[in-house]
Amino acid sequence: MKVWGGVSLSAAFRGARSAPVCGGRGRFGASGGAWRGAHRSGVRHQPHVPTAVAATCGEQIHREVQDYYGKELQKTEDLKTNACITSSKPLPKVVRDALERVHEEVHPLRYYGCGLVVPECLASCRILDLGSGSGRDCYLLSQLVGEQGHVTGIDMTEGQVEVAKKHIAYHMEKFGYQKPNVEFLQGYMEKLGDAGLADNSYDIVISNCVINLAPDKRAVLQEAYRVLKPGGEMYFSDVYASQRLSETVRKHRVLWGECLAGALYWKDLYSIAEEVGFSPPCLVTASPIAIGDKELESIVGDCRFVSATFRLFKVPGSSRAGPGQVTYNGGIVGHERELVFDANFTFKEGELVDVDAEMAAILRSSRFAERFLIQPGAAPQGCSCKGVKVGSRQLHSWVQG
Ligand SMILES: C[S@@+](CC[C@H](N)C(=O)[O-])C[C@H]1O[C@@H](n2cnc3c(N)ncnc32)[C@H](O)[C@@H]1O
Repeated sequence: MKVWGGVSLSAAFRGARSAPVCGGRGRFGASGGAWRGAHRSGVRHQPHVPTAVAATCGEQIHREVQDYYGKELQKTEDLKTNACITSSKPLPKVVRDALERVHEEVHPLRYYGCGLVVPECLASCRILDLGSGSGRDCYLLSQLVGEQGHVTGIDMTEGQVEVAKKHIAYHMEKFGYQKPNVEFLQGYMEKLGDAGLADNSYDIVISNCVINLAPDKRAVLQEAYRVLKPGGEMYFSDVYASQRLSETVRKHRVLWGECLAGALYWKDLYSIAEEVGFSPPCLVTASPIAIGDKELESIVGDCRFVSATFRLFKVPGSSRAGPGQVTYNGGIVGHERELVFDANFTFKEGELVDVDAEMAAILRSSRFAERFLIQPGAAPQGCSCKGVKVGSRQLHSWVQG
């Protein structure tokens, strides 16, 4: 599979028809069929943004997804398509080494993610993994945050949580930790409060190929925002669509099971993030998904799908102070000389970069603050200026193009 790193989401969408990814056989039954109940528009000010489904339909989706991940799938090979398979982008050495220490039942046997959710600068961080499954990313990050850090995994499927919990002692011994820095909870990511997760309690929220399965995306982002500390980050991989999906597609059980019918229209991510209070999403990487099944392709029509990783920040108002000039001091483990922050910004050690007000505020308020020298600066002029952010309008025109 081709991976677009450091380029645009639109490039990935344009490639979506040519890269064979999904086989197209339904997870919830070969013949497909519709969900009972209709979706509703959940946006007060944007009535055309359907990001939630009616309660009964939402509960049914939860039940079907639990059944699938708790009973039908026993190992990665049981997946019927490649939609939930991590891209072929090479993993950094520090990640490869950490993965080697993960129990084989967790990885590779029961891993169902579609991206790499390992942000930088993790020492001593508190991380929450939404839809943690059998715990691969939790055990990976447990090593990267160190014994002073902490990782919580939450998943609604009992069988997944059981597998994850079963291996806590194994991993803590393997990592040489005196006491566990990982915990697994059974619960819904739309209702983190029910699982006892407090406001402002995590540095980072991650998620790997899960939010597309949630009937109410806004509730997921709202809860993530609530539990993040000021300056905290949501870093997540998921499936996105090039347009809003029709009622027919959204009710199609096979397409939902294939992680396609629940995919958010990429532009809606920008509006939901803004409405919830996050900074505009920073695109990290994107790769195309081709359905590869004539019947399903005819149902989705012109719509294209990508797997993409975004980072969103909870920036306090007090950190907003106009554009800046920033210099990366280096020193982040695994990124000592160069920090590839997203598709728009790469910071080389010791190099002065003009950044817009948004990026200045992100760096100023987040865990990256002490890794940068940040000074007030003039607004970057046009795209010739190093580090200029690609705006969502520009992204939109590329996608349509
Ligand atoms: C595609 S798997 C990914 C699992 C894990 N992130 C990984 O990379 O292996 C999706 C997981 O999300 C969980 N899930 C789906 N919807 C959820 C929800 N609303 N709340 C909590 N977990 C959910 C499922 O139970 C399943 O374990």
